[in-house]
Amino acid sequence: MRQAGRILPEYRKVREKAKDFKVMVKTPELAAEVTIQPVDILQVDAAIIFSDILVIPEAMGCNYLMEENKGPVFPKRIETESDLASLHVAATEELDYVYQAIKLTRNGLNGRVPLIGFAGAPWTIFSYMTEGKGSKTFSAAKKMLYLQPEFSHRLLDMITDSTINYLRGQIKAGADIIQIFDSWAGVLGPEQYGEFSLKYIRKICDAIQDVPKIVFPKGAFFARTELEQLNCQVVGLDWNVGIAESRVLMPSKVLQGNLDPCALYGSLSAVKGEARKMIDAFGPTKHIANLGHGLYPDTEVDKVKCFIDTVKEYSASKRSS
Ligand code: CP3
Repeated sequence: MRQAGRILPEYRKVREKAKDFKVMVKTPELAAEVTIQPVDILQVDAAIIFSDILVIPEAMGCNYLMEENKGPVFPKRIETESDLASLHVAATEELDYVYQAIKLTRNGLNGRVPLIGFAGAPWTIFSYMTEGKGSKTFSAAKKMLYLQPEFSHRLLDMITDSTINYLRGQIKAGADIIQIFDSWAGVLGPEQYGEFSLKYIRKICDAIQDVPKIVFPKGAFFARTELEQLNCQVVGLDWNVGIAESRVLMPSKVLQGNLDPCALYGSLSAVKGEARKMIDAFGPTKHIANLGHGLYPDTEVDKVKCFIDTVKEYSASKRSS
């Protein structure tokens, strides 16, 4: 999940030295260093490459800034035909710095844990490119779906083709598994979600065959029957969805998730209890224990460590009993 490392003082030290988030993303040695930190310090079972979903709009010609305490901002959002004409489908080579980071990380990990590559789902990338910044409602992005559906589909097609090229590059560089983050799935209703998001996730899943795929559609509880049909092995759940019901609706999928990241503000014994409850609810197989979304930066390291240790100890004790 996003920002697994950000709670660590070791991460902040590298971040202060680099000054800018994007410098870190674009310097393979720094990206590899902070990718490996949570494996060494927290003993997580997998690493996720340090990057951002917004490298795709940038490679397509739509630059972003990561503003301190504010998040991403696009100086020029995409709204007109001429804006669209200024973009191109990103070629695999244009994101070479990410592949270099993946190669260095693999060397550093030396087979200890698998490495997850990732990209944003086309709808989530479209949301940032057309809204121009983060938003609670993404109403400017949604306005475009209602007023200019054909224009929206052309932009979504370009993002999808760029993402397929990018994921192929990550897999070639050594990503063992890939995850697609649809962080803003939940701002759409079921019909629009099918038309403007799932359609493109399906295209990506069908195009990528070489490694297992995780799809994380945050807030899309209404689409679980359709998600079951996707050509992916894992579906990530946020904490709003019921686990038992998800098992019924998605019987073929491994499920990932789904503890509320805020549960880690609780006491150590409460964190332990919540982690155990989650493992019991998912049952002994077809589950990747995780949070239901990224860590908040003010989460205490010992709470995160407690969550991870409990998951390991409790699932091992259940396997042997
Ligand atoms: O744990 C990791 O560091 C893995 C790498 C990773 C980052 N972003 C680094 C990051 C991953 C997997 C992402 C994905 C990402 N980026 C998503 C999808 C996942 C999700 O959380 O829904 C989204 C929506 C983004 C876009 C993005 N990047 C936002 C909205 C923000 C700012 C908001 C915030 O909470 O700070 C970022 C910044 C970002 N990306 C940071 C990191 C480590 C924080 C930058 C810093 O302060 O150092």
